[in-house]
Amino acid sequence: MKSLTPWISSQRRFCWVCLVIITSLSVLIWYNHVARLGGVTVTANVGLHGYVRITFGNTEEFLNIHCKQCALVSSSGQMLKAGKGEEIDHLDCVIRMNNAPTVGYEHDVGSRTSLRVVSHTSVPLLLKNETYYFRQSADTVYVVWGPERNMRQDGKGQIFNVLLKVARKYPSVKIYAVTREKIQYCDRLFQNETGKNRMQSGAFLSTGFFTMVLAMDMCDSIQVYGMITDDYCSQANHTAVPYHYYERGRMDECRMYHVHERARRGGHRFITEKAIYARFQVQYF
Ligand SMILES: *[C@@H]1O[C@H](CO)[C@@H](O)[C@H](O)[C@H]1NC(C)=O
Ligand SMILES: *[C@@H]1O[C@H](CO)[C@@H](O)[C@H](O)[C@H]1NC(C)=O
Ligand SMILES: *[C@@H]1O[C@H](CO)[C@@H](O)[C@H](O)[C@H]1NC(C)=O
Repeated sequence: MKSLTPWISSQRRFCWVCLVIITSLSVLIWYNHVARLGGVTVTANVGLHGYVRITFGNTEEFLNIHCKQCALVSSSGQMLKAGKGEEIDHLDCVIRMNNAPTVGYEHDVGSRTSLRVVSHTSVPLLLKNETYYFRQSADTVYVVWGPERNMRQDGKGQIFNVLLKVARKYPSVKIYAVTREKIQYCDRLFQNETGKNRMQSGAFLSTGFFTMVLAMDMCDSIQVYGMITDDYCSQANHTAVPYHYYERGRMDECRMYHVHERARRGGHRFITEKAIYARFQVQYF
């Protein structure tokens, strides 16, 4: 008899669970029914609508991640000898860019990667080492941005087609594309912050810009690692570091920044980034 009471209460709890499941199932079925009537099949209308998963079939799946604290790790040479690896790995989510490696740099940049924001131009770099990125690091989420000519989904977008093949070969890997609407939103954000039309001013948005916008979408707070401030390079005593921590012996960071300025390309990136970060709960190290 002694064991009866817990059994009943657990059974009652079980029925509550049943009820919840049945209710949500009917809502889901009703929802799918309504969605189908509208001509679209929607599996789950949750997540961030600016990022849509690259999959086969006609279902639409949005990026559904939320993190309390994010580490946004830049690819700058400032990361070398920073010794921030352990601190980075302790935050909820770790965001990196393009093909920035962790192997061999764990002490400075950490070893976890929750999500990578990847430029269309860096997709071939991931494919060069696809075993590492899509098999060994299969739990990393990939978010790819690119212009319409490369990312269009009508069969003419070269990079999109490549990503579709990757999605077929590694079905468990989650690869998302930044939607055209989100890219247009980023252009408007750029214009609002700089007063300049991105295309008229000949600038390209950087992967860093898209990464910051995504981090603002998915993180409650963002800890930025290794990004310099806009006046850093004009200080006479600044230290020369490689543009990327994993490409030593190439052009140093500040020289790259000056080249971009002269080319009138990406020249307003730092001001833009600074102005945008200032509005959010972002901390630099
Ligand atoms: C692939 O990436 C891993 C991790 O960065 C690296 O250790 C390995 O050497 C790379 N392999 C090739 C073929 O580039
Ligand atoms: C840009 O500024 C306009 C006018 O202040 C505002 O309505 C709009 O929401 C802003 N857009 C973005 C993407 O920040
Ligand atoms: C350079 O000098 C300024 C003061 O003139 C100081 O605030 C800054 O920390 C120095 N930077 C480095 C990298 O030593």
